[in-house]
Amino acid sequence: MRRVLIAPSLLAADFGHLAEEIAALERLDIDWLHCDIMDGAFVPNISFGLPVLEAIRKYSHKPLDVHLMIQAPELYIERFIEAGADILTFHWEATPHPDRLVQRIHALGKKAGIALNPATPVEVLQDILPEIDLVCVMSVNPGFGGQQFIPYVAHKVRRLAALRAEVQASALIEIDGGITPETAAWVPEADVLVAGNSLVRASDKAAILSALRQAHTKRWEV
Ligand code: DX5
Ligand code: ZN
Repeated sequence: MRRVLIAPSLLAADFGHLAEEIAALERLDIDWLHCDIMDGAFVPNISFGLPVLEAIRKYSHKPLDVHLMIQAPELYIERFIEAGADILTFHWEATPHPDRLVQRIHALGKKAGIALNPATPVEVLQDILPEIDLVCVMSVNPGFGGQQFIPYVAHKVRRLAALRAEVQASALIEIDGGITPETAAWVPEADVLVAGNSLVRASDKAAILSALRQAHTKRWEV
């Protein structure tokens, strides 16, 4: 039985008390912190950028899983690494040369992930899959927290797991958007669960965290 990784999304945190929010999450058994960077061009929303990421790095002791929802991510990779990113995930739809970008991220000693919008089929990754560390499958249209999981994405996750086995790749499958203890059970093949509103805004975060792990584990056992 493998253990699912949990990556709370700080987009759902109280930005006026970011250090306390990070400390509260890191007192729990979480694995990574998921940091959503939005530019107002690739997605219709603006979140936070480099100075806030630097502050997160200062207060966090966990790997920073940086989800770049920005156009032309190739222009900013070095700066996000300097600001503290450990895993850099850019969108397939946002750059013409994903392979070049993966190579650059690796040359800088970091993990490279590719994110897919809900309508982008997982098969586009067939050839590059063995070269990357993570695939972030978006289960909502990127841009906002607190949206509903799009059900057809569960089939994509299943197809991606089959493709990964077929090409003998080891990239982790991350699912991002609308994850709750209920929807976590729909994607048993996922290795990493991103959870924003359901976990970060919960009054009893420990209870939601264990419900997320349990929902996911139960599906594997049936
Ligand atoms: C959406 C972001 C997500 C978001 C998840 O564009 O990429 O990471 O913060 O938030 P919830 O879990 O609330 O859907
Ligand atoms: Zn995200």
